Amino acid sequence: MADDTTDTKSSNQMWGGRFASGPDAIMEEINASIGFDKKLFAQDIRGSIAHATMLAHQGIISAEDKDKIVHGLNTILSEIESGNFEFSRQLEDIHMNVEARLATLIGPAAGRLHTARSRNDQVALDFRLWVKEELEKTELMLTGLIAAFLDRAEEHAESVMPGFTHLQTAQPVTFGHHCMAYVEMFGRDRSRVRHAIEHLDESPIGAAALAGTGYPIDRHMTAKALGFREPTRNSIDTVSDRDFAIEFLSIAAIAGMHLSRLAEEIVIWSTPQFGFVRLSDAFSTGSSIMPQKKNPDAAELVRAKTGRINGSLVALLTIMKGLPLAYSKDMQEDKEQVFDAAESLELAIAAMTGMVRDMTVNTARMKAAAGSGYSTATDLADWLVREAGLPFRDAHHVTGRAVALAESKGCDLAELPLSDLQAIHPDITDKVYDVLTVEASVASRKSFGGTAPSEVRRQIAFWRDRN
Ligand code: ARG
Repeated sequence: MADDTTDTKSSNQMWGGRFASGPDAIMEEINASIGFDKKLFAQDIRGSIAHATMLAHQGIISAEDKDKIVHGLNTILSEIESGNFEFSRQLEDIHMNVEARLATLIGPAAGRLHTARSRNDQVALDFRLWVKEELEKTELMLTGLIAAFLDRAEEHAESVMPGFTHLQTAQPVTFGHHCMAYVEMFGRDRSRVRHAIEHLDESPIGAAALAGTGYPIDRHMTAKALGFREPTRNSIDTVSDRDFAIEFLSIAAIAGMHLSRLAEEIVIWSTPQFGFVRLSDAFSTGSSIMPQKKNPDAAELVRAKTGRINGSLVALLTIMKGLPLAYSKDMQEDKEQVFDAAESLELAIAAMTGMVRDMTVNTARMKAAAGSGYSTATDLADWLVREAGLPFRDAHHVTGRAVALAESKGCDLAELPLSDLQAIHPDITDKVYDVLTVEASVASRKSFGGTAPSEVRRQIAFWRDRN
């Protein structure tokens, strides 16, 4: 409910010319965005400075007025940065809060700033600048996470662990190889980020309300001043487009999904039953009742943040899907979704980078688990193909019988005596024991991108070069 209902009777000082009275308190509350869009203050002021500078350059306002405007805007910037700015809900949003303060500071010249622009292109500009900076930050954070994984992968290029499908032991792999799988995932996320920056790198300012303007503005000049590649090409699209925000959210959702899968693995790996990794004290918590416990809360929260990010993506897609061109006030609801998702994503990447860097890897536990569950059964089948010339399907069948025998005897494949193996297939010789160890299994998988330490090192070198 309204917490600030003072002076709702007078009409809005920025647009109230045709209004006899001010808004109802509820109208003011539902309409105002200042509570969250004040986050855009720096972008708003940067945009206004570029706009005023261009207006003066084009002779649309005087150099004197421009100087006053720029000086006033810089004052406002330091007021906000130092916490000495009073935001007013009656002034709705960040754009009008800044402009109203400018009028108090410099007088009538302030009224010239809004020449040849509208809040529609202004908000499109501010928000695009914000999302662009956030994407740049995300790119750096992903690079940090990838670097953490590269270090762990190098350290564990030879450490064997069970590889899983269906979360059932499948074939031995190395922990380094598993780490490099995440490098691929986060590498794709980072390239999506880079593409998104390219897509949004067009300046909206100068589209005005929706139709462009009759003033002789120079949109190329403002685009350049604000660090954009070029101005947008269609003024209607410019003020109705929020693809850049949705693209940010989709990238965040995909990266979040990757982070959440990793979180899930860390939760599983750190159980006493698995015992593959131990989280550092810095990234785990204790239980207030069970003193033995060490809980992977950070990983669980990363998993949960991903749910929030997905919610934001769906929310904004839904907000936008029914809107006719061009601007509708529905679009004001875009910001909280993006701000919330950005905060969640930053936290999730930072927490994961810390966990990955700090966790202790229990290579002995991993190795023991790698050898259990008949994980080298495929190696036996491959040996039969290679050394005894069996078709793979037959080799698969023979191996299945060997596994069943080992299971009934309660031993590993490598523990079956040669006589037992030869009873299943006479061509088996004692050379077969060379491929039944996990190390031999892993070392043999030298296909490009495979789990052999030499291949993992090739992958690491590729990414070190790219990172
Ligand atoms: N606060 C608005 C938003 O975030 C700014 C644009 C308002 N434009 C308008 N024509 N009412 O979308």
